[in-house]
Amino acid sequence: MDFFIDTANIDEIKEAHAIGVLNGVTTNPSLMAKEGIKGKVEVLKHYEAICKIVEDKVSAEVISTDYVGMVKEGTQLAEISEKIVIKVPMTLDGVKAISYFTSKGIRTNCTLIFTAGQALLAAKAGATYVSPFIGRLDDIAYDGLELIKQIITIFDNYGYSTEVLAASIRHTMHLIKCAEIGADVATSPLKVIISLLNHPLTDNGLAKFLADYKKVEP
Ligand code: G3P
Repeated sequence: MDFFIDTANIDEIKEAHAIGVLNGVTTNPSLMAKEGIKGKVEVLKHYEAICKIVEDKVSAEVISTDYVGMVKEGTQLAEISEKIVIKVPMTLDGVKAISYFTSKGIRTNCTLIFTAGQALLAAKAGATYVSPFIGRLDDIAYDGLELIKQIITIFDNYGYSTEVLAASIRHTMHLIKCAEIGADVATSPLKVIISLLNHPLTDNGLAKFLADYKKVEP
């Protein structure tokens, strides 16, 4: 399973990359706003900076809601680097834009997926990734992980090459379950990725190894 980091924070991206387990980055307008990035020029520069850190697969989201605007904006974003994947919302114009980008060989990530039907439509349009939002479904008492399973089954039934990118991941159990189910990618905040290494028996075990070593040290 590929690990993406879900942030627009440059330090966090650098930190995750330095660990050596990072396969890509996802951002969205809320995450960009959190970093104080505003206006087209700043946004383009910020994506340029992210692309300098990671090897590939940087999702850059369009903010236009109409087909013509999405195509124009996405084309400009794609010109930043071949690492850019155009993130497009699950709307009728969004699906049309995905079809257009697919015909041009530009990779896409269809975001705001909350049903298997939406994922199927995006896959048929040729999306490189679909992003089902697990946490936000859990928040409204739907089973987000069940949706991941359903989408994987459908894509497997017909051999779609579209990858299932589990998004809105809130904790390590989400991440572990996604790996168990067979999601292609999970995008998580840095703290969730780092939390994977935590276990009190690991800490206690290490402390005991070091204490025992000291006992026989000359
Ligand atoms: O990038 C999309 C998604 O991961 C958002 O997550 O935590 O805002 O639901 P969240």
